[in-house]
Amino acid sequence: MSGKKKVALLYGGRSVEHGVSVNSARNILEFIDKDAFEPLPIGISQTGQWYLTQGVTKDIEQGKSLGLILDPKNAGLILLASGDRVKVDLIFPVLHGTDGEDGSIQGLIKAMDLPMVGTGVLGSSLSMNKVVAKRLLKESGVPVTKFITNNFREKKKIKFEEIEKALKLPFMVKSASLGSSVGVSKVSKKAGFKKALDEAFRYDDEVIFEEFITGREIECAVMGNNPPQASNPGEIVLKKNYDFYTFDAKYVDPDAVFIEVPAQLDKATIKLVREVSVKAYEVLRCEDFARVDLFLTKKGKVYVNEINTIPGFTNSSMFPMMWKERGVSFTELISKLINLALERYASGKRIERGFESALKF
Ligand SMILES: Nc1ncnc2c1ncn2[C@@H]1O[C@H](COP(=O)(O)OP(=O)(O)O)[C@@H](O)[C@H]1O
Ligand SMILES: [Mg+2]
Repeated sequence: MSGKKKVALLYGGRSVEHGVSVNSARNILEFIDKDAFEPLPIGISQTGQWYLTQGVTKDIEQGKSLGLILDPKNAGLILLASGDRVKVDLIFPVLHGTDGEDGSIQGLIKAMDLPMVGTGVLGSSLSMNKVVAKRLLKESGVPVTKFITNNFREKKKIKFEEIEKALKLPFMVKSASLGSSVGVSKVSKKAGFKKALDEAFRYDDEVIFEEFITGREIECAVMGNNPPQASNPGEIVLKKNYDFYTFDAKYVDPDAVFIEVPAQLDKATIKLVREVSVKAYEVLRCEDFARVDLFLTKKGKVYVNEINTIPGFTNSSMFPMMWKERGVSFTELISKLINLALERYASGKRIERGFESALKF
């Protein structure tokens, strides 16, 4: 019997970031330490079906159909055609956005009582919702942009003039719970407002309006628990004349950005970014790892924009680059994340689930 831990790499998913997830998982499969772990690629199709696949592939549906066994004593996966069990020691969700990063899959894995890499249900759902995340960060003294929110029910009552008065022009309009800049617009005059609002409500029942911060886009990789550690900050430098870091600038146009790791910053700013990032990570109950995205103004003021609880692992992704700069190779990084998850799972066993009482039922 091999002593290797069987690590299920969950990828794809029902999200606008499906393709990014495939690229991330492909890299993890390539670089995972195969002397220590046995990776099992499990693709989730665009319609939400799970398959055991040959390698990480965009043709997920060519794989073998899988079902879940939820019984926590015997939890895991089963091949639907043969009824054979697929043994798994740990699940590594490499999913971005809806379903994969918002706590829903994390809840499923929790119900199965399997160890899982990354942030659990609470932190995933808090971090996914820009409104809830900003409220909590603000309340904890983490600097965030000025913002206003509305839900779909209030759509007819939303007035451009009121938002302009509160936030000044330009301002940002976003869906509350999306990623990859989908549903995000910059509004510089009244003419663009309706389109921006329709676009944001297209993907969510809740929108957020934010004061526009003119500044540099800084990111910081955080890893670990008790206490978490921060990398040196990196920077996304938009090369061309993009209004902001749009979907196309992120994934379509290869020349849109220039990534600088580490970012050219003075010592005091580096310290500030790292401290603020760790604080944000803790406030939002992140576990094992996350990437904190910030803005830095000319005057040296830092704002946390958002936290990504499953950041990209593609060739051009910041999270692995920022750890590489700290001397942690891609392979070591994956091993560290898996080991953090196993340690956290073991220490979670300390918590009693039952409670003895005289209650009759
Ligand atoms: N308040 C803001 N001020 C300036 N630029 C912003 C602001 N909010 C978002 N942006 C720009 O829009 C991009 C996407 O917004 P973000 O909130 O990060 O959404 P997503 O979750 O889709 O990445 C950011 O990377 C940045 O370029
Ligand atoms: Mg972002």
